[in-house]
Amino acid sequence: MVSGKRVLLIIAGGIAAFKSLELIRNLRRRDIAVRCILTQAGSQFVTPLSLAALTEDKVYQDLFSLTDESEMGHIELSRDADLVVVAPATANILAKMRAGIADDLATTALLATDKPVYVAPAMNVRMWEHAASQDNIAVLQERGVKIIGPEEGDMACGEYGLGRMSEPETIAEAIENFFLEAGQPNTKSLIGKKAIVTSGPTHEAIDPVRYLANHSSGRQGHAIAKALAAEGAETVLVSGPTQLPDPGGVTVKHVQSAEDMLAACQAALPADIVVCAAAVADWRIDNPPLEKIKKNGSLPSLNLVENPDILAHLSQIDKNRPELVIGFAAETEDVVTYAQAKLAKKGCDWIVANDVSPETGTFGGTNNTVHVISGDGVEDWPTLSKEDVGRKLTTRIVNFLETPSK
Ligand code: C5P
Repeated sequence: MVSGKRVLLIIAGGIAAFKSLELIRNLRRRDIAVRCILTQAGSQFVTPLSLAALTEDKVYQDLFSLTDESEMGHIELSRDADLVVVAPATANILAKMRAGIADDLATTALLATDKPVYVAPAMNVRMWEHAASQDNIAVLQERGVKIIGPEEGDMACGEYGLGRMSEPETIAEAIENFFLEAGQPNTKSLIGKKAIVTSGPTHEAIDPVRYLANHSSGRQGHAIAKALAAEGAETVLVSGPTQLPDPGGVTVKHVQSAEDMLAACQAALPADIVVCAAAVADWRIDNPPLEKIKKNGSLPSLNLVENPDILAHLSQIDKNRPELVIGFAAETEDVVTYAQAKLAKKGCDWIVANDVSPETGTFGGTNNTVHVISGDGVEDWPTLSKEDVGRKLTTRIVNFLETPSK
């Protein structure tokens, strides 16, 4: 299934470009053909001659080369492969990919391709951790780009941290796995099932212009909805206000407040699966005024009342209760202990507990470290992208629905 597959490898300008030579050898050993696009900056680190020798193919460098265009047009080049891989993917090329900039052959091919894209980022730790890079990565992931690495270690610049490109073996393995999985028959296990997912924060009006909210980005809930839909479930995503695009293949109900969110969930019932990933505000302002509160020298007093607990409501439906109701528990300390108490209190079936203390960067970040608590005990998952948490949770849901005792 892997033999004879074709990879278009885009080599951008980073010191890690030397590893792309080993990556090509590694892929060729697996009988995967490689064709390279070398950026101008990339050519400062590896020569077209080495790449041509290892790939046994021409190396493409210039968007406006008449010879290249007559041999293989750049659109054709971007579509001829089975998979496009950017390694090393510098902060610069990732930013261009996110923005849709096409100012050289590499970025033009990336914009024109209709094939799956993998990127192996490589950059200085501070560049990687910069909000701009993290934001770019998150957007690319949401668009379906797969990220390999980066890894932690010593850097060429003398610093230590996250940002080293993954080893050629790791990247080659991810590519091989992609081809192996793509060759499997498409058996969607949740066809015929209906899922409701809540996501994002809620906004609770203080007056017509102000509100109470929290830092939830909605990334985890959206990723779960996407993964459930990809597995064939008819999925309704009830989302509070977020910056995220609506995931494809999912019915999205946009809401503001906890009360709206509960009403939208109830309207979407009956369902087989419910996942409450929203960070619902615990309180709202009792009877918010219809006019903006004026600054008149004295402090306004805000009378808070408790919001409905959507998870508890959906867990405790008498008739036609969803077969599986899953809650989240965002905690900053004793994550598992508090989550276990929550499972019992709310009456849901599983709790996905995550540590959202500021140092973990979970809120708004791209990764999540979770513990899944069910009647069977506690499962500690490794740190995964939120997309992967969505997929792994979906696999667990599929297994449960097939054998509910598990
Ligand atoms: O009680 P706590 O907010 O920590 O519980 C978190 C879980 O409960 C999450 O699954 C969240 O979506 C859900 N929840 C809810 N309605 C609320 C508060 C929390 O559905 N009002």
